[in-house]
Amino acid sequence: MTDTEIKKGLAGVVVDTTAISKVNAETNSLLYRGYPVQELAATQPFEAVAYLLWHGELPTPDQLAEFQQQERALRQLDPRTLALLDTIPNDAHPMDIVRTAVSQLGAFDGTLHRPGGWTDRELDLGRAVYLFAQLPTLVAVVQRRRRGQEPIPPRDDLDYASNFLWMTFGELPSPAAVDVFRVSMVLYAEHSFNASTFTARVIASTTSDLYSAVVGAIGALKGPLHGGANEAVMHLFDEIGSASEVAPWLDRALAEKRKIMGFGHRVYKHGDSRVPTMRAALEVLLEESGDTELAALYETLEREFVERKGIYPNLDYPSGPAYRLLGFDTEIFTPLFIASRVTGWTAHVMEQAAANALIRPLSAYDGVDERHVAGA
Ligand code: COA
Repeated sequence: MTDTEIKKGLAGVVVDTTAISKVNAETNSLLYRGYPVQELAATQPFEAVAYLLWHGELPTPDQLAEFQQQERALRQLDPRTLALLDTIPNDAHPMDIVRTAVSQLGAFDGTLHRPGGWTDRELDLGRAVYLFAQLPTLVAVVQRRRRGQEPIPPRDDLDYASNFLWMTFGELPSPAAVDVFRVSMVLYAEHSFNASTFTARVIASTTSDLYSAVVGAIGALKGPLHGGANEAVMHLFDEIGSASEVAPWLDRALAEKRKIMGFGHRVYKHGDSRVPTMRAALEVLLEESGDTELAALYETLEREFVERKGIYPNLDYPSGPAYRLLGFDTEIFTPLFIASRVTGWTAHVMEQAAANALIRPLSAYDGVDERHVAGA
């Protein structure tokens, strides 16, 4: 071992600059390209937020209309993607299914196969828009297959959030519920150098292609310490059962040193900047559904855990129950996160490529001393 200080998990290490988002744990704020995320969630369609992350500015009405037209034209899945899904067992985890399909989309992109094609960064914006348009259709099909239902084709008269829900359920919930879904997409879109975004940047830094970066990012997002937490929160709720069970359940869980999913954050130590907005959105669905049991369980677990540990909920805590109330299967929650975060990932891939340096840190060797093969 050396005396070099090791920053386990790169905690506190600043590895590069970014102009895409700013997380300020002190003031509990999150800015996308300078705009507070709460303001974007209150006013902008998700398409405008995607545009902002990629271009650095919100679109004008004409730019937004043009972008929406472009996105709507790219929603239809290639029949070969549907055929690929048929080869994957239906009980495979949706994250694995979506990761596999995104990898296939990369292999379809003929521009990658030209000499120098995958490092042609001029093409990356179009690739990002393609993934942005394809992912809702893909996730909706995966959700429907789990229920033995046929795919529902995209509708080009609907915006991103409405069309996503339409393709999944074949009907639209109330406008207020559609808006909750839109808000969740805006809040999940970008969060600086989180584990999946950093993974995407590492892959991009080798001058690999954008699809490979997104496939790697999906792999990182799947883990419950990162994006998989929104699914894990609902599994916890199911395990606990009801508000009256929270206290004894928590006694046992903490005695066993279990991590309580949906709480804690590497950067925010006094609460996640996105939670109040998502909590208010969840409230709309709780009121609409009249599900007082879920509301009581949510509030009791939060109160008891914060009281005992002083660790606050992160975005996955309110978004898990919100996605359940919207009607998604628990295993689909993290794929919904992919559909949103693909905007941030691809913005970071393009930013990395624009001022690239291979990301290749050092390690301190901690193995056996040098030794030699007998007879060598
Ligand atoms: N449940 C129980 N204890 C928790 C906790 C949680 N959700 N989050 C943090 N802690 C405790 C740790 O056990 C540790 O205690 P110790 O010092 O007694 O060992 C302390 O708080 C510091 O936690 P640590 O895991 O070292 O902090 P981190 O910055 O590495 O972790 C997370 C951040 C997100 C990985 C962690 O909070 C976690 O695992 N949360 C649950 C998963 C989750 O919701 N992930 C989504 C994040 S957006």
